[in-house]
Amino acid sequence: MQVKIFPRSVLEGREGLAVRAQEVLSQNDMGGWTRAAPTLYPHQWSWDSAFIAVGLAHLDTRRAAQELRTLFAHQWKTGKVPHIVFNPKAPPHSYYPGADHWACAAASPDAPPAPPYTSCLCQPPVHAIAALRIWEAAGGEHEKARTEAINFLREIYPRLLAWHRYLVTFRDPEHSGLVTIYHPWASGTDNSPRWDDALAAVEVGEMSTYPRYDLQNVDDPSERPASADYDRYLWLVKLIKRAGCDERAIYRSHPFLVKDVLLSAILVAANEALLEIAEVVEASDEERDLIDGWAGRGRQGLEKCWDEKLNLCLDYDLRAGRPLRARTVAGFAPLVAGRQSPERLAALLGELDSTAFAGHPGLRWPLPPSTSPNETGFHPRSYWRGPTWPVVNWLLWWSLLRAGEAGRAERIRRSALDQISSDGFAEYFEPFTGEPLGSNSQSWTAAVILDWLLSDSLREPGMAA
Ligand code: DGY
Repeated sequence: MQVKIFPRSVLEGREGLAVRAQEVLSQNDMGGWTRAAPTLYPHQWSWDSAFIAVGLAHLDTRRAAQELRTLFAHQWKTGKVPHIVFNPKAPPHSYYPGADHWACAAASPDAPPAPPYTSCLCQPPVHAIAALRIWEAAGGEHEKARTEAINFLREIYPRLLAWHRYLVTFRDPEHSGLVTIYHPWASGTDNSPRWDDALAAVEVGEMSTYPRYDLQNVDDPSERPASADYDRYLWLVKLIKRAGCDERAIYRSHPFLVKDVLLSAILVAANEALLEIAEVVEASDEERDLIDGWAGRGRQGLEKCWDEKLNLCLDYDLRAGRPLRARTVAGFAPLVAGRQSPERLAALLGELDSTAFAGHPGLRWPLPPSTSPNETGFHPRSYWRGPTWPVVNWLLWWSLLRAGEAGRAERIRRSALDQISSDGFAEYFEPFTGEPLGSNSQSWTAAVILDWLLSDSLREPGMAA
């Protein structure tokens, strides 16, 4: 990766935060892809890579494009982008369930050639948003970089189209506009109370003991999901393997089948990004209409999940046939999807600013906890049950800008920058004390820092030089 010379304003403004972010990404750089974190996550994770590409776009657009290219080289024939591409050189006993456990996925006729092995789950589709960011960043660079970026868009566009098509077909046979997940890992928000009720209904059968390597990498086990959650995660993996990683078989038999509103909203926003890419690469009108239709259907699906009392959007449990009532940041999904009515936008912003989220008086920084402190399942140190996450703050910031809420977006950006300058490049933070939790030197935390510090330069010619 090239060493970026940052504009003086960026260096002075945040005491070298951009330089530190660049160092974190270099340390985790594995050549054509980036480890999500040095020890806790030694492989390539799908949505981490998309956020990483957003950050890398400010350092080196060619390297950013390579990040997505490497991930999409392991796309399945169905269009699925796997949630993990396993690093064959990862140290033994560093991550479980690793390549050996998922090697079964390679037996599927839809899987890409292995090794490297992939999992057969997927994660939120941030990739088209990242690809567009690379194109935008290349706009401020020399002509060669722009030519390379347009060639990259031409190459990645059909793959992105296949990925989105997979999500709206295999993962939405009901044509509801909402994407179904069959494992909490697919949501990216693993142990969020969003999934508590649906998981409680999963009866864990005979299973051998398994290691918890993740706990070696945190100071306190309560920062990671509890054993009861892990038992269910691994039981669900066992059932997925038993179904031969076959989408239709899983849909028929699986005990955990949920419509995920945040993933669905990210897909709406990603479809809008894909439409912009389609324009740049001069895709056919038919394809553009198709993508536009997917975005529209997604918005309608989300509309049906709105809960007037909570002022949030709720996931839907297909097995139990009812919404999953939990106050978590995922409820702001319509904000991420964008183009909301003024009334709906006001309701979302009111909730975001309320004491249930970013307006809670005890917070160290006015940033929304992943789960509302007013929710029964709230836990301030446990992964997605309460800590604040820089990537979620990035998603909200980006969505607020798109909604024309520049003031609110800027408040989130400043607080998130203050949080990371004061407490480090952690995976997540205790919301009341600001204590850094989970992994340190987390790649996507560094990536969003770069975007926060440097995205203005995309609009101010000369700044990114
Ligand atoms: C983990 O291992 O914690 C991941 O979130 C699963 O993808």
